[in-house]
Amino acid sequence: MNTGTSSPALLLLAIMILPYQATAAGAGGLHPLVLVPGAGGNQLEARLTAGYQPSSLICSFYPVLKQKGGWFRLWFDPTVLLSTFTRCFSERMMLHYDKESDDFRNTPGVETRVCNFGSTESLLCLDPSLNQVWKNRGITAYMAPLVNTLEEMGYVDGETLFGAPYDFRYGLAAEGHPCRVGSKYLSDLKALIEKASTDNDRKPVIILSHSLGGLFVLQLLTRSSPSWARQFVKHFIALSAPWAGAVDEMLTFASGNTLGVPLVDPLLVRGEQRSAESNLWLLPNPKLFGRRPLVVTPNANYSAFEIEEFLDGIGYPEGVYPYRTRIKPLVEEIDTVEPPPVPITCVIGTGVDTAEVLVFENGFGDDRRPDVVYGDGDGTVNLESLLALETLWSNQSVKVIRVSGISHTSVLTDETSIREIVGEISSVNSYALSEK
Ligand SMILES: *[C@@H]1O[C@H](CO)[C@@H](O)[C@H](O)[C@H]1NC(C)=O
Ligand SMILES: *[C@@H]1O[C@H](CO)[C@@H](O)[C@H](O)[C@H]1NC(C)=O
Repeated sequence: MNTGTSSPALLLLAIMILPYQATAAGAGGLHPLVLVPGAGGNQLEARLTAGYQPSSLICSFYPVLKQKGGWFRLWFDPTVLLSTFTRCFSERMMLHYDKESDDFRNTPGVETRVCNFGSTESLLCLDPSLNQVWKNRGITAYMAPLVNTLEEMGYVDGETLFGAPYDFRYGLAAEGHPCRVGSKYLSDLKALIEKASTDNDRKPVIILSHSLGGLFVLQLLTRSSPSWARQFVKHFIALSAPWAGAVDEMLTFASGNTLGVPLVDPLLVRGEQRSAESNLWLLPNPKLFGRRPLVVTPNANYSAFEIEEFLDGIGYPEGVYPYRTRIKPLVEEIDTVEPPPVPITCVIGTGVDTAEVLVFENGFGDDRRPDVVYGDGDGTVNLESLLALETLWSNQSVKVIRVSGISHTSVLTDETSIREIVGEISSVNSYALSEK
């Protein structure tokens, strides 16, 4: 915003451009909006090739109904509720770290793809067939209520409103490490932002992320030149962003997480969840969580500085090397990275019980779920992580909107928080108009 454009030549240019921009604004000239979902927030499709080795006969037939080319919906599919199918799902969702190429890859014989990149289509709900029945109010509705409200404001999918779904199992890595899927996503996202702006009279874009999506966007902004960010990004609104990870993620690694899906046995999905690179990225950041014990056992305690020992202790030694080499140096940049020259608004839920310390009375051996000591946060992410950018960048314009009693995902559906989000988008748009 404050780029010091006071030279006479630039002023003249501004005057010349003015009538053009005023026309665009008159025609409902909204700043284009790009939505970046969180982990699990968009559909993923898969197909099985000759290299697939099913762990059971059932997995070789399931699912019976497939689309053209053998594609079927891998995420989300309600049949994972049945434990026989949960196993098939889990082995297909699994990622594998390959030391030779220093990168993560799919299970052999499982191809995956993200559908409808550029559109909000695959972010509305996770299972369209279920939601047709429930008219967007179904159990798998995700961004549908928010997108409906944006459309009422005048946003149009594919014209001024865009979606950037991705394979949320993959993450990003510290510099110098290959990251085929995550890097490709960042460059696709960058191209989408440029296209959204170019197609809308070169107006810079508002980026609206949820959860993990915020971490990808922040990486895109900090890895791009300041002049790119100034040219293409008007404002970054991050909902429920876990800037410094969450203790809840240690619970996922130790005991599995049903992701709120009833009846799923967390131990059946634990292996798959441990294997996701993005889950390693969301473990508590030592720079923010410090030395206090987050996991307590009879023989050892683990702070955010002992994530490697923790991964080993829970019986996931495979995670130690990729965490140490790829993830730890990435997350430790948090307090040295230069803040991007873009105004940031964080919309966060507070006052919801959030795991702060996990107490495993008998250690990890018996796979019993721990006793949980709760603290403040959005039910998933600890308050200090939600507030990390404000804490670290006190000299930068990071605005935080707190919505009391709103959980990590209900920020997308609750009326109060939708009103706050829409208010923020409207004020960015009207501010942009009055600026001229
Ligand atoms: C672990 O932390 C608990 C609670 O803070 C403390 O009482 C205990 O002595 C610690 N145990 C070890 C082995 O450090
Ligand atoms: C603001 O803080 C960041 C991070 O602490 C630092 O890198 C930057 O130089 C500071 N900028 C100004 C203008 O003080």
